[in-house]
Amino acid sequence: MAKVALVTGGSRGIGAAISKALLEAGYQVAATFAGNEEKAAAFTAETGVKTYKWDVADYDACKAGIAQVEADLGPVDILVNNAGITRDAPFHKMQPAQWSEVINTNLTGVFNMTHNVWGGMRDRKFGRVINISSVNGQKGQFAQANYAAAKAGDLGFTKALAQEGARANITVNAVCPGYINTDMMSTIPDKVMNEVILPQIPVGRLGEASEIARCVVFLASDDAGFVTGSTISANGGQLMS
Ligand code: CAA
Repeated sequence: MAKVALVTGGSRGIGAAISKALLEAGYQVAATFAGNEEKAAAFTAETGVKTYKWDVADYDACKAGIAQVEADLGPVDILVNNAGITRDAPFHKMQPAQWSEVINTNLTGVFNMTHNVWGGMRDRKFGRVINISSVNGQKGQFAQANYAAAKAGDLGFTKALAQEGARANITVNAVCPGYINTDMMSTIPDKVMNEVILPQIPVGRLGEASEIARCVVFLASDDAGFVTGSTISANGGQLMS
């Protein structure tokens, strides 16, 4: 039976590319979404990937949702924590709600999801947890104190959990995308994109979601069994570390 992969935020943007790439690589795939029913239905119609609606910031919803996925497809072998939001604002204008929404989704959401698959992975002595962090969690970013804090937190979480998972044959890794050509970029003013961001990217273009998906497929594979606690940076050279 093919392994089961669960991708949060898996029906749009980078998540959709990850879901499709895992499907093509032979996995059974389930994708979560938070709000956009229309896009999720279109994604299922296009790919056959079943989509499930819940908020990763809600622990009980994650628990119930994962139980449903496991009833439908079988135990989750591969978890891709991709769901993420931005609420950009310069810090002097950032409201507490902008802070907590981003932390609750991008960081606590990763805890909520992983915590609810971890016991099963430990029991079965196999697991892959792949966290989609960001170049902005590695280097910081103007107007993203909230997002950079959450994404940097995801990297600490990855390294801590990799140490715990190792003895149970569970790898935990992160991918740090740079600026990728998705809907998320539409919030960035053209002037900022063209005059501030693009000049920082040596390859001179945004990345494609498929270029992130290929990193995830590698980390999910048996070939990556010795790779744990690591970070793959795919950012066009914007940050070389
Ligand atoms: N770097 C440097 N300066 C920036 C900047 C950036 N990324 N973004 C905005 N600025 C500058 C603007 O050019 C402007 O400068 P001037 O006053 O000299 O014109 C100033 O900051 C804007 O200040 P305001 O007080 O007017 O800002 P605002 O309250 O209107 O907020 C903003 C505007 C939300 C910051 C908007 O400019 C913006 O969205 N900027 C982009 C921020 C960004 O890069 N976010 C990353 C999103 S992609 C992502 O998150 C995915 C990922 O993982 C990589």
